[in-house]
Amino acid sequence: MTIPMTSPEGSTAVSSSADVHATAVIGRGTVVSDHVAIGPNVRIGANCIIDGSEAYPTVINTGCVLDDIVKIQPGVSLGAGSSVGPFSVLGHPSKVVTAGADGSLENERVQRFIIDEPVTKIGAKAVIRSHAVIYTNVVIGEAFSTGHFIMVREHTRIGDRCVFGSHASVDGYSSIGDRTHVGQYAQLSQSATIGRGVFIGGQTVFSDNLKAIWDVDQDLFGATLEDYVRIGLNCTVMPKVVLERGAFVGAGSIVTRNVPEGGLAYGSPAKVSRRQTMKEIQEYIDSVEG
Ligand SMILES: CC(C)(COP(=O)(O)OP(=O)(O)OC[C@H]1O[C@@H](n2cnc3c(N)ncnc32)[C@H](O)[C@@H]1OP(=O)(O)O)[C@@H](O)C(=O)NCCC(=O)NCCS
Repeated sequence: MTIPMTSPEGSTAVSSSADVHATAVIGRGTVVSDHVAIGPNVRIGANCIIDGSEAYPTVINTGCVLDDIVKIQPGVSLGAGSSVGPFSVLGHPSKVVTAGADGSLENERVQRFIIDEPVTKIGAKAVIRSHAVIYTNVVIGEAFSTGHFIMVREHTRIGDRCVFGSHASVDGYSSIGDRTHVGQYAQLSQSATIGRGVFIGGQTVFSDNLKAIWDVDQDLFGATLEDYVRIGLNCTVMPKVVLERGAFVGAGSIVTRNVPEGGLAYGSPAKVSRRQTMKEIQEYIDSVEG
């Protein structure tokens, strides 16, 4: 990733055909291209690059605050009242653009995740802290809240009110439901299907390729976590695993088999020890939905 730096003394360069609201404030050294719309009361720091294209204009909506050294690529739409920390990139080009090809794109197992347009839609009131990289072909709902250094790869949908802890990442071709929490340093693989109100503990990692063989028949078997699943800290979730609604995996587990609805499993390999009570599950659901 290269972040072009302009001199702190450099003057702001706003294209005459950019649509910048009179109340917007743009910092020194920031460059705003054609096909960019910047709404009322937006504040953009120093040395940012805000890029749009005719096919994929960029829209920074009312009241957004972008810190210094933020790069916005064409096709980004940032919802009203959002903030973006320094050294962040929104709308990073997808692999098919940067590498010229993407083997995953043709795979039948990920067709349901594909977002056709190379755009990055982020809902209102996002709080995106420094060093975030969010790719194109990504749709994120309202009130997305992140720590520092998060990454969201292409062809990912994230629902409303989701949280990514610092260094959390999703490797693309995945979907994440509303109100889901991805803990610090957690890594979601490609082709992961994550439901609503899921908790993924910090340091937990997912695999979608059992034998690390780069063959289309071996790849893209991401796990499925149904609604209100909880996974403790520092777990490994193996390919194809299905954790049914309300399942709970204890900290430090290696999940190699499915866990039934409401089951509690832990260990290596994780074994179901018991079924949670309705009260235990409901208490968690209430805390997520409250
Ligand atoms: C699994 C868990 C939910 C406890 O479930 P539980 O049914 O109440 O289990 P108990 O605490 O009664 O423990 C039962 C047995 O399992 C063991 N055990 C509990 N959690 C375990 C785990 N994660 N891995 C291995 N063994 C575990 C206990 O030591 C105990 O063993 P013993 O019978 O030999 O003494 C809890 O220990 C856990 O791992 N929670 C996740 C914590 C976490 O990661 N939180 C993230 C938020 S920051």
